[in-house]
Amino acid sequence: MPTAPAREITAASRLDNVRYAIRDLACVADEVIQQGHQVLPLNVGDPLNFDFQTPPHIIEAAYKAMRDGKNGYAPSPGIPEALEAIRGEAVRKGITTVRDIFVTAGVSETVDLCLAALVNPGEDVLTPSPDYPLYSAVLCKLGIKLNVYDLDEDDGWQPEIADIQRKLTPGTRGIVLINPNNPTGSLCTRQMLEQIAELARRHNLIVFSDEIYDKLILDSENGKDTPHLAFAAVAPDVPCVTFGGMSKNYLVPGWRIGWGIVSGDAAAVKAYTEGVHRLLRARLCANHPEQYAIKPALEGPQDHLVEVRRKLRSRRDLTQKWCESTPRVSCVAPRGAFYAYPRIDIPESDEIFVKELIRQKHVMVVHGSGFGQKPGTQHFRIVFLPDEQTLTRAYAGIAEFLRERYR
Ligand SMILES: Cc1ncc(COP(=O)(O)O)c(C=O)c1O
Repeated sequence: MPTAPAREITAASRLDNVRYAIRDLACVADEVIQQGHQVLPLNVGDPLNFDFQTPPHIIEAAYKAMRDGKNGYAPSPGIPEALEAIRGEAVRKGITTVRDIFVTAGVSETVDLCLAALVNPGEDVLTPSPDYPLYSAVLCKLGIKLNVYDLDEDDGWQPEIADIQRKLTPGTRGIVLINPNNPTGSLCTRQMLEQIAELARRHNLIVFSDEIYDKLILDSENGKDTPHLAFAAVAPDVPCVTFGGMSKNYLVPGWRIGWGIVSGDAAAVKAYTEGVHRLLRARLCANHPEQYAIKPALEGPQDHLVEVRRKLRSRRDLTQKWCESTPRVSCVAPRGAFYAYPRIDIPESDEIFVKELIRQKHVMVVHGSGFGQKPGTQHFRIVFLPDEQTLTRAYAGIAEFLRERYR
């Protein structure tokens, strides 16, 4: 029998700044669903919620691995045939100085391990603003003070080099690039990658280049897909971990398969790589049977990507046209991934805007303040994965909401 009332178990205070607006909005959506409405979900970047299907040969490979008894622990860095396939992929990406490769439970775990292996208390890592919120969440978890640099909306959301220079501290150890970017859909130019490389050389930084959307480039030149430019290909000498994975390019976000490719000067990255491997061993391994799908995915037919990009281009164009023709809305055209990050000119916070939009029009987007933005600006993130008909309905709802609320 209890002798005293149970005392509250509190969460660690270092989590106070952990935000994940994308999922936090779910409670508002639940309210609306309980009232019997359907919500148009333009908030979660999961292609499998829409008309995209996993290539069958990839599913078959994972299924076969399970049937063949590959259900025990895998080697901590990953199974050899997957590591070899990722090495081949690195070569195709133009990365010539590969020093190490490891497989993780999604890029999410790569981010977690790579940041944890780098920073000591009092040090910091530069992260973009707006950013994909996992980076700040992991740094908060590690008790590291956030140090964010701006992406410049007036320059197609390129990193602002002057701001990066201003934000460098004696304790800055690394810089995060997200390219193609979530939430803006932007791509770094070669010149930008070169400038960041120069900065990294001068200040002894490691670059974490998150390239999880590298096969979802929506730009084309002379009828041909524009190739993605990997940071590590532009700066082979600079210590870098390139993040890649299966979730988006191969349409299996639920499998949790990602990887890190370490490149740069061999002596410079040696001790850090050993640190990463200590953490890799401590967490045992990434999902085992799914790793057998990495080689068939990277080396097998890539036909699905042609279809995915065709759909995404059409949906991006529709989104952009809507942004250009809607009062109070403007948007830098997305060039990769499946996100648009329009700016809105409204007299209240974008969080109120987004919550009221769900309540009144049953359309769910994510507020810019959930990703970070320059003071005085308001944005929202659209996931343009749904089909054209759904997007058209959602955009009509948003336009009507803007008209009615801010006459
Ligand atoms: C930029 C970026 N990095 C990493 C992730 C996480 O990917 P994964 O499913 O491989 O953990 C996402 C997911 O949306 C993302 O947008």
